[in-house]
Amino acid sequence: MLIKLQDSDVPQVARLHCQELNGLLSELGIEFLEKFYRCSLMIPEMWTIVEKRNDHILGFTSCVTNINGLNKKIIFKDLWGFIILFLKIFITQPKLLVKTVKTFTYPGFSHDSPELLTMAVEKKHQGKGIGRNLFGKCLEEFRKRGIKSFRISAYDRLPANGFYKHIGCGLENSFNFLGEKMNYYLYKIEDKNV
Ligand SMILES: CC(C)(COP(=O)(O)OP(=O)(O)OC[C@H]1O[C@@H](n2cnc3c(N)ncnc32)[C@H](O)[C@@H]1OP(=O)(O)O)[C@@H](O)C(=O)NCCC(=O)NCCS
Repeated sequence: MLIKLQDSDVPQVARLHCQELNGLLSELGIEFLEKFYRCSLMIPEMWTIVEKRNDHILGFTSCVTNINGLNKKIIFKDLWGFIILFLKIFITQPKLLVKTVKTFTYPGFSHDSPELLTMAVEKKHQGKGIGRNLFGKCLEEFRKRGIKSFRISAYDRLPANGFYKHIGCGLENSFNFLGEKMNYYLYKIEDKNV
């Protein structure tokens, strides 16, 4: 069943994010991810869709109608909570401070554009059409909000690049992000169906 993320599902989504997506947000840890997704529920331009069966989240995807300033908006929903959490994280893992600053000022975040932020399916359930269904639900939501195209960024090393190309995303450009090649895809909604 594809449904919008509810507060009670946040711990499962945070865990799945950490398991399937390696990047800064996962490095910041489960506690950070839980706060991130919980606060995102208060941001009207962001939404997360989950595939839920028997109370178990098999996959999820998050989208936003305007990426510009999103992280700031999320952090400001619980400023003191995030400050305390960041202090805890950076005291024990100082290396993450520089990476966090660089990531949160990453060029993609300065575009005023709609984005599919992230998508993950539990490993044992990959290859069964869940990613395609989640993507389809994203399109539905983007259409409802009058959006005609959106972007997706993915590290070049990820197999997910094959998925995005297969599903109809066009490679817009690639750039070097913290020493790694990052691809930026554009999906034009118009009349396409996935
Ligand atoms: C990428 C991901 C979300 C795809 O979800 P999924 O449920 O496994 O994908 P689906 O089974 O719905 O596949 C849909 C179609 O894409 C194709 N596909 C899936 N993964 C693919 C890949 N790596 N390369 C090429 N095609 C792929 C499938 O063959 C299928 O084709 P078909 O419908 O024409 O038969 C999932 O593999 C995943 O969670 N990966 C790890 C997390 C990740 O890297 N996320 C992206 C971060 S940017």
